[in-house]
Amino acid sequence: MDKQTLRDKFLSLYGSGDIVEVSAPGRINLIGEHTDYTGGYVLPAGIQNIQCHLLFRPRHDYQVRLYDAKFDETLEFSLLEITLDPPGSWTNYPKSVALALQEAGYELLGFDGLLYNEVPIGAGISSSASLEVAHAHAFIKSSNLDLPPKRIATLCQRAENKFVGVQCGIMDQMASVLAKPGNFIFLDTHYLTYHYLEFDTTSFTILVIDTKVKRALAASEYNKRRAEAEAGIELLKRHHPEYKLLREVPSHVINKLSLSPTLHKRLKHIVEENLRVLEAESALREGDYIKLGELLFESHESLRHLYEVSCPELNFLVDTGKRLGCLGARLMGAGFGGATIHLLKGDPSSYIQELTHLYEDKFRITPGVYRISL
Ligand code: GLA
Repeated sequence: MDKQTLRDKFLSLYGSGDIVEVSAPGRINLIGEHTDYTGGYVLPAGIQNIQCHLLFRPRHDYQVRLYDAKFDETLEFSLLEITLDPPGSWTNYPKSVALALQEAGYELLGFDGLLYNEVPIGAGISSSASLEVAHAHAFIKSSNLDLPPKRIATLCQRAENKFVGVQCGIMDQMASVLAKPGNFIFLDTHYLTYHYLEFDTTSFTILVIDTKVKRALAASEYNKRRAEAEAGIELLKRHHPEYKLLREVPSHVINKLSLSPTLHKRLKHIVEENLRVLEAESALREGDYIKLGELLFESHESLRHLYEVSCPELNFLVDTGKRLGCLGARLMGAGFGGATIHLLKGDPSSYIQELTHLYEDKFRITPGVYRISL
């Protein structure tokens, strides 16, 4: 749906007058998977051609009226009395963001809004964070507030952790608020410091290929990995109080600890994945896309064998992608189904065609393919 159609729809719903527009992009993550909830490094970017758009008109009272143009649904609630809906409903995102802002002491005013989220649900490019960030922008503007980007991201994460009930890290929300066209964001998730790194968009292409499968246990397995990582850190601290963060611990220290085989694998992944993000940062700075690709494949192997968050469909897309000549590929996001990221040189058309065909042949599922505009 183009901007004009959305504006026309807004006017037909709420009458003539001013319209304010905000948007928040979906995100990709080049490397640094399952590192953000232990204060590690990540390398995400906002997706310029896949965004959550919110058109709104501030109100002078506490009412919020929303129309979701993609799913043709409406929501109306009062900011004076917010009750959450059953888990899984999109309506909990605007409500949770309002609750998190109010809990932090901000006085909110309502708005009439029209929502159009281009970010597909469950494709691993963070529809939740884009939804949260777009609503945060709308509440902030309609209430005449001024919050710095990091504050917006941490409040949106709080909304998701506390009110939506998903224990996600900070990567997705930070990527959405900090997105800068043509750039990746090197983010330190402990100190929330960051810098931008340019990506050569003229010679290289990034694709997201969605397996279209989602394991039923995804949410509980994600929380289980978090708990394992935290248990490992507790043990490590007991023996090595000199390390504040897992990312500071050398591999040989992990190898000498007496840990269960599972915890050992989990910690090894996190420690080595953080090192890979640092290497990827240098590779990107030096324009070494071959090295970057190798790091992506290594990350996938580690997520598959050490962190154990992959599945046959993800492995197939990565292994077949390698065979078809991409520079690098790996599962992206939490895993257990969801999406893969592929780095290619030049025109990706025949790569897309072949990979789609082979995947369909093997799993009888057509994968979701997204060409990413950085
Ligand atoms: C999900 C979470 C992120 C991050 C990734 C794994 O996308 O929302 O915070 O933990 O999984 O890297």
